[in-house]
Amino acid sequence: MSELKKDIFKSLKPLYYSGYRPKLYIETYGCQMNVNDSEVVAAIMQKAGYSITKDIGEANVILVNTCSVRDNAEQRIWGRLECFKVEKKRRRDLTVGVIGCMAERLKETLLENNTVDIVAGPDAYRKLPDMLEQTERGQKGINVLLSREETYADISPVRMDKTGVSAFISIMRGCNNVCSFCVVPYTRGVERSRNPETVIDEILSLSRKGYREITLLGQNVDSYKYGNVNFARLLQSVAETFPNMRIRFSTSHPKDMTDEALETMSRYSNICNYIHLPVQSGSTEVLERMNRKYTREDYLHRIEKIRKILPDCAISTDIITGFCGETAKDHRDTLSLMREVAFDFAYMFKYSERSNTKAARMFEDDVPEKKKIERLTEVIALQAELSLKSHRKHIGSVVEVLVEDVSKRSNEDLCGRTPQNNMVVFPKSGCKIGDTVKIKITDCTQATLKGKIYGGQA
Ligand code: SAH
Ligand code: SF4
Ligand code: F3S
Repeated sequence: MSELKKDIFKSLKPLYYSGYRPKLYIETYGCQMNVNDSEVVAAIMQKAGYSITKDIGEANVILVNTCSVRDNAEQRIWGRLECFKVEKKRRRDLTVGVIGCMAERLKETLLENNTVDIVAGPDAYRKLPDMLEQTERGQKGINVLLSREETYADISPVRMDKTGVSAFISIMRGCNNVCSFCVVPYTRGVERSRNPETVIDEILSLSRKGYREITLLGQNVDSYKYGNVNFARLLQSVAETFPNMRIRFSTSHPKDMTDEALETMSRYSNICNYIHLPVQSGSTEVLERMNRKYTREDYLHRIEKIRKILPDCAISTDIITGFCGETAKDHRDTLSLMREVAFDFAYMFKYSERSNTKAARMFEDDVPEKKKIERLTEVIALQAELSLKSHRKHIGSVVEVLVEDVSKRSNEDLCGRTPQNNMVVFPKSGCKIGDTVKIKITDCTQATLKGKIYGGQA
C-alpha cells in the first residue's frame, strides 16, 4: 500500500470509530448462487461496520464476485479490473477485492495484478473484514481455503433486489459431480447441505418482509440431504409451512431427480411447475465423455415422467455445443432431442475449455471455434422457434402472474412471471409490484407473453 493510502486510512480510522462507516460496493457476476453469496457477503460486512452502497463512485471498498465457468466470464472480470485500475489512480483510498469462483481458481495469479488488494474464495467470506483490515496495514490478503462444512446458514443475507418480491435461498453449497467440462467442483468444493430449520427460518423472515417467492438454490438440488431430510421432504415442508409463498428451485440433475420430488410438486400448488433440467448434449457418446452419468434415453425417460406426473410443467435446459470429439451426428442428436422435448427455454453455450478439468486433461478440444459457433447458432435458432411455439400455446389463456417490476420498455406496463416461468408484460391497470394477478394472454414474442388484466386480482 502506498504511503499516501496509509495516511488516508489513518485519518479515516478515527472517523470510523466515531460512527463513520466505510462504504462497500459489490458487483456480481455468474449464477444465482453468486447473487445470493453477495447478499451473504453484504451481511457479513454490514455487521463489521461497513455500509452498502449502490453507487460505485462513493465506495471505499469494491468487491467483485466472480464466475469462472467459461473463459468469456473471466475475460469480463479482467476488463473490469482495468476499469478499477483507472478508478484507483483517481481515488487512492479505494480497496479492490476479487471474491468468488475466479478467486478460487486463479488464487495468487490475481494478487499479482496491481489493482487487486484481496482475494477470497467462496468459503472465506467470514474472513473478509479481517482481510480488509490487513490492507489498512499495507498487506495484500488471500484466503482460498475450501471448507467441508461452511453453509453460511446462520447469516441472514442482506437482500439487494430492488423490489422485495422474490429471493434466492442457497440450500447447499459445492458439488460432488465431476462433469468433465466443469470448473465448479474445483471452485466451490465438496457438496454440503444446509440445516433445513435454518432454511425455514430464513423463509419466515422473508415472508414477514413481504417477499412472495423464493428459489431454493444448489448446483444439484436433487442430492440435498440433511439427516433424513432429502430434497422432496425439504420441498414438502417449505410448501406446507408457507402456503402463500411461491416456491421455485434450481438446478435439477437428470441423474438424480426423483419421482418423489415430482410427486411432491404435484401435491402443492404453490410449488411452481417449472424445472430447469440441463441436458448438455443429445448424444449418449458425448454425455459419456462429459461424465454426466445418463444417456439420451435416460434423459428422455425423465422428461416422460415429468410430463406424466406434472402435465403442465415447463422445462428448460442448458446446452453445450462443440464439446471435445463432438461430430456432426452428435450435433444433430442434440437438435433432434431439443425438438423431441420441445424445451420452453434454454441457456446455450459453446464449449470453453477450463484448465485442470477432466476434459482438459483427457480430451482434445478439437472442434474448431468456427464449428462451435456455427453449431451454437443453429441451436439458438432452433430454440427461438421452440420458445415461440411454447409461448403461442398460451395465447387466449388466462395465467397467474406474480408482479415483479415495472416493464423495462414502458413505465405504463408491469411485468412478472407465471408459475411456468414465462415473463408476462401487461398494462398497469391499478396493480402493484408484489400482487398476484390473472392475466389474459393476447400476444407473444419469443421472449415474453403480453396480455391484460382478467377479472381483477387472483
Ligand atoms: N450445476 C448445473 C450447472 C452449473 S454451470 C448442472 O449440473 O446442470 C451452468 C451451465 O454452464 C452448465 O449447465 C453448462 O451448460 C455450462 N457450462 C459449464 N461449464 C462449461 C464449459 N466449460 N463450457 C461451456 N459451458 C459450460
Ligand atoms: Fe458442474 Fe456437473 Fe456439478 Fe453442475 S453437476 S456444477 S455441471 S460438475
Ligand atoms: Fe460461475 Fe461459480 Fe456460479 S463458476 S456459474 S459463479 S458456481
